[in-house]
Amino acid sequence: MEMGFRDDFLWGGATAANQCEGGYDEGGRGLANVDVVPIGEDRGPIITGQMKHLDFDDAHFYPAKKAIDMYHHFKEDIALFAEMGLKTYRFSIAWTRIFPKGDEQEPNEAGLKFYEELIDELLKYDIEPLVTITHFDMPIHLIQEYGGWRNREVVDFYERLVTVLFNRFKGKVKYWLTFNEINMILHAPFMGAGLVFEEGENQEQVKYIVAHHELLASAIATKVAHEVDPENMVGCMIAAGQYYPNTPNPADVRQAQMDNQENYFFIDVQSRGEYPAYALKQLEREGIEIPFEEGDKELLKEHTVDFISFSYYSSRVSSADPKVNEKTEGNIFASVKNPYLEASEWGWQIDPLGFRITMNELYDRYQKPLFVVENGLGAIDTPDADGNIVDDYRIDYLKQHVETMKEAVELDGVDLLGYTTWGVIDLVSAGTGEMKKRYGFIYVDRDNEGNGTLARSKKKSFDWYKQVIESNGEDLDYTKG
Ligand code: BG6
Repeated sequence: MEMGFRDDFLWGGATAANQCEGGYDEGGRGLANVDVVPIGEDRGPIITGQMKHLDFDDAHFYPAKKAIDMYHHFKEDIALFAEMGLKTYRFSIAWTRIFPKGDEQEPNEAGLKFYEELIDELLKYDIEPLVTITHFDMPIHLIQEYGGWRNREVVDFYERLVTVLFNRFKGKVKYWLTFNEINMILHAPFMGAGLVFEEGENQEQVKYIVAHHELLASAIATKVAHEVDPENMVGCMIAAGQYYPNTPNPADVRQAQMDNQENYFFIDVQSRGEYPAYALKQLEREGIEIPFEEGDKELLKEHTVDFISFSYYSSRVSSADPKVNEKTEGNIFASVKNPYLEASEWGWQIDPLGFRITMNELYDRYQKPLFVVENGLGAIDTPDADGNIVDDYRIDYLKQHVETMKEAVELDGVDLLGYTTWGVIDLVSAGTGEMKKRYGFIYVDRDNEGNGTLARSKKKSFDWYKQVIESNGEDLDYTKG
């Protein structure tokens, strides 16, 4: 029996431009939705598109402006990734570095140069770049002038972006993800897709117009990627996490099924190439029209993704009973509390077995290779008397997840390309805007208010992950400190 992870298993770490780069106005970069999302109590309403916010104001602090300043620290950071032995590094391209307004004819050379240097630096250490083309960002200009993704013209601008990227980085980048957590459109429309609702409009209708346009854009990207270089591998990306029924009551089971379908809808289209029947029927019942144009169906059908990537932080629970309403936190996805699980300091429930369950569900459904591109624990790290971060809680979380991931591969036969932990280095939280919600193996000296030297230092988990990679996932042991 074949055991363990494949020899070329891509162990790595993940980040996103808006959460780590900073340099929001450097190198000719334009303004994006993700820049103008502040920390604090207004963040929630802004993320979910209930408040219009398209510029900075003096009343708020905007953590993405500087983030951890990877724009200037990337060489130092990549050297640390190399020391850890990373085989791959997942990062995203800020659209506004390449096309500052989004609708220009020609790209911004300074932005391309920045990513070229970053990619060359990775290749210097034999680290495979894994590029997310869009991780929640959208040029503000496209929102103001075109209404963002609700406008089909934006699909053409996206095509221009990806065509530039695939050509420029041909032979250097093989793995591409079209949209991070594409299902976030339904839950955090402004943060997820730069969507600002107009007064009185049918928000559900608008969300599915946006979804259709992003799905078309994703299929076009897949097409162009394969045309430019047949070696390119393109993946979709979903915020995954199985919904369990709260009880064996068939009504709860049905509710869980529908909640799962709502998520799978996106990758059903991206991977199977057509709108699933359950979605078409439901949208029809709700009076929601998908703006299909001639050729759309063929495009979706002919250009499906090569692999399925996903983030996994937690499972979720569904109930059909309106009286069951004790909700818990987690990636903006509302879920009933699961009494069998512990939770992180932010209330995200911890379910390593759910990871294996989710992987099985995805693999059974799509029969394409999977790639785990986010998994991790957001926690408060406090340096001990010697200034060291002894983050056994983080190691515990990751160890348990790597164990069940291994079972999914060894015992269930899931075809898995790689695993990138979320926040390989501390960065700004997407949900809360906090720095103190840390995920990294590398500590960054910066706090929620933007104070700190930005100095990088290794946590205990740094050496542990190095050992995991060196042993290709065989040696997960550590001694509690
Ligand atoms: C995923 C996102 O939803 O979860 C990341 O793709 C995000 O951008 C991660 O950072 C963790 O969420 P948070 O809110 O703890 O940063």
